[in-house]
Formats: sequence, C-alpha cells, structure tokens
Amino acid sequence: MSLLTNSLNINLPEQPLILAPMEDVTNPPFRTFCKRYGADWLYSEFVSADALVRSVDKSLKKLAIRDEERPVTIQIYGRFIDSMVEAARMVEAVKPDCIDINFGCPVKRVAQKGAGAGMLKNIPLMVEMASQIVKAVNIPVTAKTRIGWDMENIIIDDIAERLQDVGIRALAIHGRTRSQMYTGSANWEPIAKVKANPRIHIPIIGNGDISSPQQAKDAFDKYGVDGIMIGRATIGKPCIFKQIKHYLNSGEILPEISVSEQIGIIKEQIKMTVEWLDEPRGIIHSRRHLAAMFKGLPNFRELRIKMLQSSNINELWDAFAEIEHKYCSY
Ligand SMILES: Cc1cc2nc3c(=O)[nH]c(=O)nc-3n(C[C@H](O)[C@H](O)[C@H](O)COP(=O)(O)O)c2cc1C
Repeated sequence: MSLLTNSLNINLPEQPLILAPMEDVTNPPFRTFCKRYGADWLYSEFVSADALVRSVDKSLKKLAIRDEERPVTIQIYGRFIDSMVEAARMVEAVKPDCIDINFGCPVKRVAQKGAGAGMLKNIPLMVEMASQIVKAVNIPVTAKTRIGWDMENIIIDDIAERLQDVGIRALAIHGRTRSQMYTGSANWEPIAKVKANPRIHIPIIGNGDISSPQQAKDAFDKYGVDGIMIGRATIGKPCIFKQIKHYLNSGEILPEISVSEQIGIIKEQIKMTVEWLDEPRGIIHSRRHLAAMFKGLPNFRELRIKMLQSSNINELWDAFAEIEHKYCSY
C-alpha cells in the first residue's frame, strides 16, 4: 500500500498523478475531465476562508464536489486562525476526501496580507493554524507550500517537520520560493531533501514544471517523491495524465492526439463548463484552455483569433469546424 494511501486513507496507486489546485481553472467540470483522462487525485482551486465564513455565494459554489471526481481535496486559504478553523468545518461538511491548507500562494493580494506564501514569514502562525485545523476536523488535513520565502530562506526542511508534528498528513511542495513567483525553473533538490529526511514519515508530493511523461518519471525516480502534482501543463491538455500514466506503466510514449480528438475533448469540456456557469461565463472561462491548445499548427493565427474571440457556442463550434477542416491530417 502506498504511503499516501496509508496516510490519507484514500485509494491511490503507487505513483499517483495529482491535479494541482489552480484558481479559476480547477472547478468541477475541469476536474472531472482530468479524472477521466487519468488524474488520480484532484485539488479544488483555493477558497477564501473569510469569504466562506461570510457565506459569499461565489465561494460557497467552489465547495461543490461530484462523486465521479473522488478522491478530491478542497483547498482553503486565509490569515486568521479563527476563520480558517470555521471554514475548515464548513468544508468538512461537504465531505471532500481531504482539506488542504494553502501556504504557498505568492500573489500580492494574498501573500502581502500574510495568507498563502505570506505564512512563510510567520512559521509559528503557520504551524499553529495547521494544528488548530487538524484538531477541528475529522478528515485528513494536508498542506501545500513553497520551498521558502526567498533564496536566502529555503526553510522547507524545518517547515515540513513542524507541520508533520502537528498532524499534517501529506505535504505538497512547489520547488520555487515566493520571490520567484513563477519565474526561473522549479528546484526539486530541496523537495528531495525533505523526502530523504529520516525524521519525515508523511508523504511528500513534488510540484513544479512537470510537462512531459519523461519529466514525470524523473520526478519519481530521481527525487523519490510519493506523488507528483501537475498544474499548468494540464491547461488545454487534460489528457497529459493519460500520456504520463501510459509512459510510467509501459515506458512507451503515446502518439500526440490528433486535432480532431482535441476538438472532441475541448467541446465536451466547454459544454460542461457552460452548464456549470452559463454560456457567456463558460466561454470566457474556457479561453485559457483554448489559448493553450493547438500550439505549433502552421498558419494558425487567424483561426486562433477567431476561436478566442468567439463569444457563444455557435461561433466557437464554427471556428472548430474550420480548424478541423484545415488541419484534418494533424
Ligand atoms: C492559474 C494558476 C492558478 C493557481 N492557483 C493556485 C491555487 O488556488 N492554490 C495553490 O495552492 N496553487 C495555485 N497555483 C499554483 C499551482 O498549484 C502550482 O503549484 C504551480 O503552477 C506550479 O506547478 P506547475 O509548474 O505544474 O504549473 C496556481 C497556478 C496557476 C498557474
């Protein structure tokens, strides 16, 4: 039985592939798609504890879970222990498989206020918050963070031990500092060091820059992590999970899926997103995925603009028909 399965009481394979939490991306429709295409475990986008406690509709909607997604984690963030504990109880009531605490978000509106990666500047508060949340709920609590605030403060070793000691059941580590935001490349050495620490017995999930089956295999082989978490590479390409899984199991690279297949997948995803939101918002929401698709097609500029400027399903479906026609052999 894998360490993650043991620690969290959720059924996961030996080398689990995990969908990273992403604001405005990992909503139930997209999560469902990633699950269909091979993701083993899914994280919601982060949800503001303060907004939950104030019952803001938009945040309450983020707690929705479909049974077919399981196992699924709801992630919360905030800077005040009281509201985080109350929010954790509200999250527990909707029965996710785990609750995750965001200690890694680098964006100003979150980190400058002391939440997310801001907690990397106040470790006693981070640890106390984790401890109180663990005590307040009866489902596993995990955390996701970065390797430190900046290069002079790579403190992940210490954080991992302290979070483990207060009952955090798994730790996901993005191999960047807060100062790096998303620049440079992820540094997996500190993640490997945490995993190799004999004091650490909770599962360690590695995260940062995985975008191919070979990188995924390296992450397991070289760094010894218990799971890998993939974020940006899934946008517009949920079937990356299937490609990685196939490679891990067989050593073979699956051929890239054709333009027609990609259109089939994205149409389904858009239909579900439109059902989830409404047509205008569903289309706008899907643009991030569309923008990441069909990279490298020759002379694609005009159709790309047409696709991204479509404001309703009919226009978008027309654009897809033209793409399919023009690139039927791709
Ligand atoms: C659009 C976007 C939204 C994100 N939102 C969250 C979030 O809500 N919670 C979180 O812990 N991390 C969030 N992240 C960070 C990702 O979970 C992940 O740590 C980061 O993208 C690095 O992994 P990757 O290189 O596989 O993308 C977000 C990243 C992106 C690109």
